[in-house]
Amino acid sequence: MGHFSTVFLVLLLLLVTEIGPMVVHATCPSLSKNFKGWCWFNDSCRTVCEDEWATGGYCRFFQCICTHRCAF
Ligand SMILES: *[C@@H]1O[C@H](CO)[C@@H](O)[C@H](O)[C@H]1NC(C)=O
Repeated sequence: MGHFSTVFLVLLLLLVTEIGPMVVHATCPSLSKNFKGWCWFNDSCRTVCEDEWATGGYCRFFQCICTHRCAF
């Protein structure tokens, strides 16, 4: 019984450590809500996006794309 629960805990730990980062690192791009006009530089978008609680942002086709966490 004790041995079984140890194996179970190790498997659970592996599952959490393997799947967890995949969920955390997954980002979903979406158009910036706060940025107005055309963008030219990634950095200007990233600054605006980070104020929108996004994990980052970049400039694509003159529009600011913010990257958000996909989970919840
Ligand atoms: C801006 O970000 C995009 C996406 O990450 C990247 O492909 C591109 O090279 C970046 N451009 C500049 C000028 O840093």
